[in-house]
Amino acid sequence: RPHDRPGERDDKDRQLDQSRADSDGTLTTSTGVKIADTDNSLKAGRRGPTLLEDFHVREKITHFDHERIPERVVHARGAGAYGHFRVYESLARYTSAGFLGDPSLRTPVFVRFSTVAGSRGSADTVRDVRGFATKFYTREGNYDLVGNNMPVFFIQDGAKFPDFVHAVKPEPHNEIPQAASAHDTLWDFVGRQPETMHMMMWLMSDRALPRSFRMMQGFGVHTFRLVNDAGEGTFVKFHWRPLLGTHSLVWDEAQKIAGKDPDFHRRDLWDAIDQGRFPEFELGVQLVPEADEHAFDFDLLDPTKLIPEEQVPVTPIGSMVLDRNPDDFFAETEQIAFHTANLVPGIDFTNDPLLQMRNFSYLDTQLIRLGGPNFQQLPVNRPLADVNDDQRDGYGQHRVHRARTSYLPNTLGGGRPRPAGPDEGAYRHYQERVEGAKIRERSDSFADHYTQARLFYNSLTGWERDNLSAGFAFELGKCADTGVRERAVLQIARVDHGLAAEVARSVGVARPDPAPAPGHDLSSPALSQAATVMD
Ligand code: HEM
Repeated sequence: RPHDRPGERDDKDRQLDQSRADSDGTLTTSTGVKIADTDNSLKAGRRGPTLLEDFHVREKITHFDHERIPERVVHARGAGAYGHFRVYESLARYTSAGFLGDPSLRTPVFVRFSTVAGSRGSADTVRDVRGFATKFYTREGNYDLVGNNMPVFFIQDGAKFPDFVHAVKPEPHNEIPQAASAHDTLWDFVGRQPETMHMMMWLMSDRALPRSFRMMQGFGVHTFRLVNDAGEGTFVKFHWRPLLGTHSLVWDEAQKIAGKDPDFHRRDLWDAIDQGRFPEFELGVQLVPEADEHAFDFDLLDPTKLIPEEQVPVTPIGSMVLDRNPDDFFAETEQIAFHTANLVPGIDFTNDPLLQMRNFSYLDTQLIRLGGPNFQQLPVNRPLADVNDDQRDGYGQHRVHRARTSYLPNTLGGGRPRPAGPDEGAYRHYQERVEGAKIRERSDSFADHYTQARLFYNSLTGWERDNLSAGFAFELGKCADTGVRERAVLQIARVDHGLAAEVARSVGVARPDPAPAPGHDLSSPALSQAATVMD
């Protein structure tokens, strides 16, 4: 087989064998009838019209006509690989997740790396966030860690996601520009939505120009929860660290490569695996006891914040190796369906309002992208764990159910399926007490949009700051609208006045007033909204 890994074949490989379509036999129709001529349609006479009864060519054309499915609404361009994950030591103290509890287990994975804003055919090395999504095929079901290569996000509440993506994607009237970071609508949004500032600092930095998918970090971003057998929770942030180190291109290189080899990252990943140079990533966690939920000067539920490693170090817990290229890009890399709500017992959510909305969005979008409710049966999505549900019918149903019943409770179906008892590995939601009036306000603990943005800027070396400043100058400089440029510079000034002065000079707007004195509440609603009224 073209891409069997040299080492041990795993359960996912064996499961995929059942779906593999090796095409070394005689050409047939999709119904298995052998075909002698696929080059000439059936005609009435040598120069006559084509006959409708040519079922082979009709099928060939019809199938071709239906080959396209919608690309992902975001993260449309990506590349993936199979591999495996192993935990170093049991984490059973914190989580009942089997694949994190047993160092002897080698859990198959599929990882898809992606850009966010570009379409399926866009260039790899553009300035953008990169997706880093991992599907663990565990014995207790599929677990998806759907992360990015930056530890924070642009917005705090999922309700803003369509607004944000509409601002980032090409403008609707002329589908220009493809470059996500270089247009008026993104900066218009940023100037009016100060919570974007921390992530914008990362986006203008070299982090947005990874050298290779093999050389970038990955982050779960949100605070999740580990839950142990006793039902006790621990907050957790997930980190992937590439063993090759974290490296970036420089902007000039990235632009040239985008022209000379738009498949640069895809090719690099493919070639490395093909040549046996298997990319390796270490998984690390930051663990925070439930009791310390309010011990930080930011909110653990706020996805625009990271937990500084000085406050909570990252503990390495396991290793992932990617060692097999897919056989069929469409069947595997395109049809894989990641979802933040694909959890296994021992891992749970928090009330992060961005995460909560993601938990709705992924399944919803996949219902249309993958043509109906049975996409979990696609080979790349199929769990290794037994599936024994009462879901029936729907487009693309591939399972032949032999039970008479598909409802509960029943007596006629021999009692199957039945809900698992508490000790039989059933998923149990973390028993968090929640109460509150129905309101649309955000907690005050989400209000500081600048401190961590500044922390990031201050953590950079001199040349990294220069690159970041040049990033702002290049991208913001593309904006035609002066008001948009001014508002963006005003936001930058709240992070660092010196940086804002540099950017203002580069993009031809007035140098902003000196930053308010230290101790001034930069995040007060009045100041945040000052940008909004500056038209
Ligand atoms: C893909 C929605 C935030 C990481 C997607 C897709 C949607 C989506 C609809 C396409 C999925 C598909 O067609 O299969 C959202 C919403 C968000 C959000 C509504 C906020 C409310 C985030 C955040 C991260 C992230 C914060 C990172 C932590 C990804 C990745 C993919 C993706 C990596 C690509 C998965 C793949 O490779 O197939 N998102 N997203 N998203 N999202 Fe999000």
